Amino acid sequence: MKILHVVGARPNFMKAAPVLRALAAHKDVQQTLVHTGQHYDDAMSGVFFAQLEMPAPDCNLGVGSGTHAQQTAGVMLALEPVLLERGPDLVLVYGDVNSTVAAAMVCAKLGIRVGHVEAGLRSRDRTMPEEINRLLTDQLSDLLFTPSADADENLKREGIDGAKIHLVGNVMIDTLTRMLPKASANSSLVNPPDTQPYALVTLHRPSNVDDLPWLRELLSTLEDLSEQLHIIFPVHPRTRGRLEELKSKSVSVRDNSARLHLTNPQPYLEFLALQRHAALVITDSGGIQEETTFLGVPCLTVRENTERPVTLTLGTNQLVGRDLRKLRSAAAAVLAQDSTRQSSTWQSSTRALQVPDPNRVPLWDGHASERIAEVILRSRS
Ligand code: UD1
Repeated sequence: MKILHVVGARPNFMKAAPVLRALAAHKDVQQTLVHTGQHYDDAMSGVFFAQLEMPAPDCNLGVGSGTHAQQTAGVMLALEPVLLERGPDLVLVYGDVNSTVAAAMVCAKLGIRVGHVEAGLRSRDRTMPEEINRLLTDQLSDLLFTPSADADENLKREGIDGAKIHLVGNVMIDTLTRMLPKASANSSLVNPPDTQPYALVTLHRPSNVDDLPWLRELLSTLEDLSEQLHIIFPVHPRTRGRLEELKSKSVSVRDNSARLHLTNPQPYLEFLALQRHAALVITDSGGIQEETTFLGVPCLTVRENTERPVTLTLGTNQLVGRDLRKLRSAAAAVLAQDSTRQSSTWQSSTRALQVPDPNRVPLWDGHASERIAEVILRSRS
């Protein structure tokens, strides 16, 4: 059986890695890995392949950045000849990035079966580019691998045949559980300033960072919060660009101080270690909402909605929307509740770590990719 995987952007890599591994255990499966090149910086791509011990891509489409249409069309144009040449029996696509929907569209037109890993998530917010990508990819897919029961419900509501839907759990947690011992074993991966408790921040959604006045307000809220604890903020390239834009407009940006630390994007292991030991995470990422839930670390999500509602109902996530007062008060409440972390040094806060709970969300147990491999092998026609 010939299986071709398409990955393109940072959040795809930790999802594809365990599926590649699980399928590699089956000798009659021949795998090809295509990187679209949507993300191309070493810090956004290469370092993840190395740390996650992924095979080098068999081909890189070199699509790079651009408008949504340019990026999506670029992937489609470059992928079609690869698919015609390789003739896979099944193409696996991951998550909700532009590369995902582009690959699904090419396959559907060529009559190649598509499997979507992380199917069925819905924010019900069509202003998010990812929501459009999710809706279309799921409509075009033949095998829909869902991470949680809410996703199955969403798909059925959209008229998708239940026989195509497979509740397998969360592949990102497969990678997390595999890598956590490595991340934990090396405490030098985390270097919190003065060994003090810290909040970890990531912001990269267009709705947060492309709106410059809002981005400035967010930064000044973080600066205020840094009076209570250190803030470590690895900055995504999109966000870095917007901060430069703000500065070029002579807007005063307080983007670094003794306790507000803006860093480059972090590799997987370093970021996992940072999450594990954080007193609090503030983010607009989807994957980080899930990882903090698994790790038992409080997470405040700077969005109005989430496509991952189990992180609210079963996990540690709270939506604070676009309301800075809510962000401030939620952060204060988290810190007040955790007096160990608030008052402790780094060393003692490590003793207060939550034990990750593989039963917090059903099937987020580190074995989702094996279930995917089983379904694929069973579905061979
Ligand atoms: C994309 C995904 C988003 C995902 C995010 C994770 C879509 C629609 N969005 O958003 O769902 O959460 O990846 O990072 O697919 N850039 C670099 N180096 C790189 C890649 C990008 O400098 O390696 C810069 C470029 O200026 C580019 C900008 O980042 O224009 C945005 O990159 P892009 O791939 O368009 O979207 P992301 O914001 O990364």
